[in-house]
Amino acid sequence: MEADRKGLDGLPSKRVLIGNCTNRRRTHMLRVVAIVAALAVGATAVMAQNLSVIKQRRDVMAAIATSSSGNFKMSKGEVPFDLAKVQARLKTMQEEAAKFKGLFPGDSKTGGETAASAKIWQAKAEFEKAADTLLAEIKSASAAIKDEATLKAEYPKVAKSCGNCHKTTDGFAPSLAESFKRLKQ
Ligand code: HEC
Repeated sequence: MEADRKGLDGLPSKRVLIGNCTNRRRTHMLRVVAIVAALAVGATAVMAQNLSVIKQRRDVMAAIATSSSGNFKMSKGEVPFDLAKVQARLKTMQEEAAKFKGLFPGDSKTGGETAASAKIWQAKAEFEKAADTLLAEIKSASAAIKDEATLKAEYPKVAKSCGNCHKTTDGFAPSLAESFKRLKQ
């Protein structure tokens, strides 16, 4: 009987030994379960962080794009000129653009239906320069626009700076046409 009951390791499985083994295995299992649970919690935390920062930057860009599109239409004469509206939108754009480049941590490359290109993390300096240029153009437009003529003269510079990131190929983000389709109307 004793000889039949050999453990997996081939050691004689005396009752005491079985007891020890079982305890050790149980401890081991508990440790594995604890590690798996910790990893799962860690993964969830990372995922949640990803999704919130991606949502945040999409909201920031959506606010910039909505304001910019209003000013752009006005600069084209598609809607009547209104200085207060132009300036209010530039203020929103300035506040939002100031947040933008800080919303790209290394753990937010994918998920949340992000349209951000991997190039952002490969050419961080160039990306941040494009974000700084956008902010600088918004500020200088805000200082320069006093009437319809200055809106028409200055606004194209702001619109042009969107194109430092939004390109048909190899940009930091898809083309403006593609990006505007993503805006929740
Ligand atoms: C510094 C680079 C940069 C500049 C400059 C920039 N964008 Fe973006 N934009 C992005 C990135 C990156 C995304 C994608 C964000 C994501 O999906 O995670 C984006 C997303 C968008 C979106 C889609 C928002 C959504 O709902 O997901 C629109 C629309 C947009 N941009 C318009 C503009 C306009 C208009 C300008 C100029 C006023 C501009 N962008 C300037 C980088 C930029």
